[in-house]
Amino acid sequence: MKHAKLKDFPDNFLWGASTSAYQVEGAWNEDGKGPSVIDMANHTEGVTDFKVTSDHYHHYKEDISLMAEMGFKTYRFSIAWTRIYPAGSGELNPKGIEFYNNLIDELIDKGIEPLVTMYHFDLPYTLQEKGGWSSRETVDAFENYARTLFENFGDRVKYWLTINEQNMMILHGDAIGTVDPNLENPKKELYQQNHHMLVAQAKAMNLCHQMLPGAKIGPAPNIANIYPASSSPEDMIAADNYAAIRNWLYLDMAVYGRYNTIAWNYMEEKGYIPVIQEGDMEILKSAKPDFIAFNYYTSQTVEASRDNGEEAGHTGDQQISVGEPGVYKGAKNPNLKVNEFGWEIDPAGFRTTFRQIYDRYQLPLIVTENGLGAFDKLEEGDIINDSYRIDYLRQHIEQIQLAITDGVEVFGYCPWSAIDLVSTHQGSSKRYGFIYVNRDEFDLKDLRRIRKQSFYWYKDVIATNGANL
Ligand code: BG6
Repeated sequence: MKHAKLKDFPDNFLWGASTSAYQVEGAWNEDGKGPSVIDMANHTEGVTDFKVTSDHYHHYKEDISLMAEMGFKTYRFSIAWTRIYPAGSGELNPKGIEFYNNLIDELIDKGIEPLVTMYHFDLPYTLQEKGGWSSRETVDAFENYARTLFENFGDRVKYWLTINEQNMMILHGDAIGTVDPNLENPKKELYQQNHHMLVAQAKAMNLCHQMLPGAKIGPAPNIANIYPASSSPEDMIAADNYAAIRNWLYLDMAVYGRYNTIAWNYMEEKGYIPVIQEGDMEILKSAKPDFIAFNYYTSQTVEASRDNGEEAGHTGDQQISVGEPGVYKGAKNPNLKVNEFGWEIDPAGFRTTFRQIYDRYQLPLIVTENGLGAFDKLEEGDIINDSYRIDYLRQHIEQIQLAITDGVEVFGYCPWSAIDLVSTHQGSSKRYGFIYVNRDEFDLKDLRRIRKQSFYWYKDVIATNGANL
């Protein structure tokens, strides 16, 4: 639909940006923090580990002051479970509570609304050793951890996100580094883990509503519009299949507490049906999110799988779908350009994704990730001319405004990432931030913070509430 006039971004629109604890904090074993699965995973050869990253743990005041300078209304960050409970449950680490108290106080002092992800890929390693999400114990540990977060930070944090990209942990956990290498039957086991995470999420949402009546909580999956590679009915079925198991499985569970039919049949046929304990479905049905947060980098395109086995054996990554024999097969979209890492760029697909989610759930939406990873260049005079990032973000913000004009309720935008950090599997040279961190892949240099061109551009976007793009 072509609109004659665009609607403005709403007043109080939450402009901000995102990070996650393990990708930005560093201090991986300081002040009592326990190891997470990410700390213990094998890292991709040729890229840095997560021990120091951007050292935000020691630079948080400086970083927040730069965010305030950009005019952030919100900052989305995650809490490292292993700082709060080094072993996932049991003994609480007061230093961890202190760090996040300080961070939250600093944000509030600068007028920035904290938006907290409770769990972003970094499961405590001690829990993993006891079976991780395959074990019901982890569901209890998450509920206990959630209670601790609500008790300690709920007086100041009004917006909570349960689990970051649960769907990506299930579909592309190998690339991200969250899959336990010792799993005997990983695919099947992952759907059991998925079920446990969904129950844990439902419990956390219920707990939040009981303990903090003024707070809001929602899931944060990665949702993408899925195109059929052609207008052939077989390709359309493949797109439908993939949408059911990549997108709607997660949101249908979070919002309605039911497995959607196509996803359920898929699990049945593949032998992935999880063990569902008595009472689980009631818990899942009882929990309701207040909003939906989603991450969007690009759309996906798929064609019918000819089931010749050629899709097996590859996992792709969060944005590159390989496929599954008999279900769907990843395809290139000839209409789209790709970034330096082979991820397609599809701003219009962003609008479609908004429309689809809102149509299906009618809940307010917030974007918790969207952005462009690139090899930025630090030029003389501390200049980083990331005009390509500005282009990417501008085109996506334009689509948000179109979605708002379409009638979709959108209350915030938090691109990835507030500041440079370490990518999930492609190192620190794949940068996303508005703020440059002066380090190389293996040379930590001085970790100096430098404003990129996009910093000044985004500052103006926020100051004009999206009028100056
Ligand atoms: C999302 C994750 O999948 O994409 C982030 O939630 C991640 O943690 C982001 O960093 C970008 O992906 P990558 O692989 O480039 O770091």
